[in-house]
Amino acid sequence: MATVVVVGTQWGDEGKGKVTDYLAAKADIVVRYQGGNNAGHTVVVGEEVFRLHLIPSGILYPDKICVIGNGVVIDPAVLLQELDALAARGVPTARLVISERAHVILPYHRYLDELEEDRKGAGKIGTTRRGIGPAYVDKVGRVGIRMVDLLDPEVLRQKIRQNLEDKNRLFTRVFGAAPLDAEAVIRDYEHYAGRLAPLATDVSLLLNEAIEQGKNILFEGAQGTLLDVDHGTYPYVTSSNPTAAAAALGAGIGPTKIDRVVGVVKAYTTRVGEGPFPTELQGEMGDQIRERGGEYGTTTGRPRRCGWLDAAIVRYAARINGLDYLAVTKLDVLTGLDVVRICRAYRYRGQLLTDFPASLGVLAEVEPVYDELPGWKQDISGVRRYEDLPPQAKDYLERITELTGVPVALVGVGTRRSQMLARYDIFG
Ligand code: GDP
Ligand code: IMO
Ligand code: MG
Repeated sequence: MATVVVVGTQWGDEGKGKVTDYLAAKADIVVRYQGGNNAGHTVVVGEEVFRLHLIPSGILYPDKICVIGNGVVIDPAVLLQELDALAARGVPTARLVISERAHVILPYHRYLDELEEDRKGAGKIGTTRRGIGPAYVDKVGRVGIRMVDLLDPEVLRQKIRQNLEDKNRLFTRVFGAAPLDAEAVIRDYEHYAGRLAPLATDVSLLLNEAIEQGKNILFEGAQGTLLDVDHGTYPYVTSSNPTAAAAALGAGIGPTKIDRVVGVVKAYTTRVGEGPFPTELQGEMGDQIRERGGEYGTTTGRPRRCGWLDAAIVRYAARINGLDYLAVTKLDVLTGLDVVRICRAYRYRGQLLTDFPASLGVLAEVEPVYDELPGWKQDISGVRRYEDLPPQAKDYLERITELTGVPVALVGVGTRRSQMLARYDIFG
């Protein structure tokens, strides 16, 4: 039995959904512990493509319990849509439970996300505009509405009224925007409450009992290490902690209960939204990777910025998350290149930086120091064993381990379940 955390090591979209789906085959329970529907996790099962935003990727197996932990912010309308869309495609969803302590996203959070981004103009964060930041601000500001509140009509009514009184003042006086109608919001949320009530439970209790019973539990991180509000490229980050330690907080288990952490690494780097990106490729090479990798946002459809793999970032992620293994995805996308490059460190004003800097000013100025390796030409999408990869592809993976100190356990060579090469049994 083991508890395993899957985290993104870069700026999100590393393929966490696919890795979670792969590992979930051996799990009893799959848990989301932070973020919200800013996430977009793609899982391909047979001929079908699923894009999950809030529901853990384990839902695509008929027998896994899926859990949304207290650390997640839940937009009830989106959750219900996602449940209905899965049901319409024949996916049973009755095994989903959500934490009573999870905070709820309200229309005023989405509205504020829009207004703030628009006001910032060129200085915007480039958020998904799903209300994630404002919902976490209210949580920390102690005016959030939790699932338990949603289930108590009196409390819900009173809290929405109070909050909207304050927010409407902000909307009208600071932003010069229209106010929202409290009664309409209350009506909608009473309706959502009716449907979500049966799913709400004490998630911490459920998970700790499962750990006692020796169950396999998989924690599915959203976003990535560089989007972490503490450790990422602040302020160009999300408003939660995607990193591994947050799995304990966001699900109600002790840190001593986490056995292993797997970091998902895309074989190159992508980023959606604003902020510095040292290995970004602006020209033809960046466009080529974007097209070949299908690098368009799962949630917003925005083209993703693309660049070479940055091992300085992955090494940083290894330290922040305590990574035991790497899962390298999308290796197939690099097939056909004459050379592949990996950033091993940065040069800053003549000095070599081997550790990821805190200052965005420094990061904006650094020049990547690259290792150049020969590429491989053979199609690897049909390879099923690590040993059968071309030597150049294996060298590339080995260099990643050399530069990060973390062994590669899984290698993705395509979108399908079968297109994953395993070197170690992570639940083992
Ligand atoms: P997540 O947010 O980390 O779950 O990642 P996304 O789903 O947003 O983006 C990853 C994309 O890459 C999805 O379209 C996946 O289907 C795809 N993908 C994942 N692993 C592989 C792989 O090994 N090869 C290829 N070609 N595509 C992959
Ligand atoms: P998954 O789980 C990539 C980015 C946004 C923006 C910043 C803040 O699919 O990897 P937010 O709406 O969270 O306030 O936006 O974070 N972002 C993501 N980028 N993948 C994600 O999720 C992301 N979730 C948020 O683009 O730059
Ligand atoms: Mg994604």
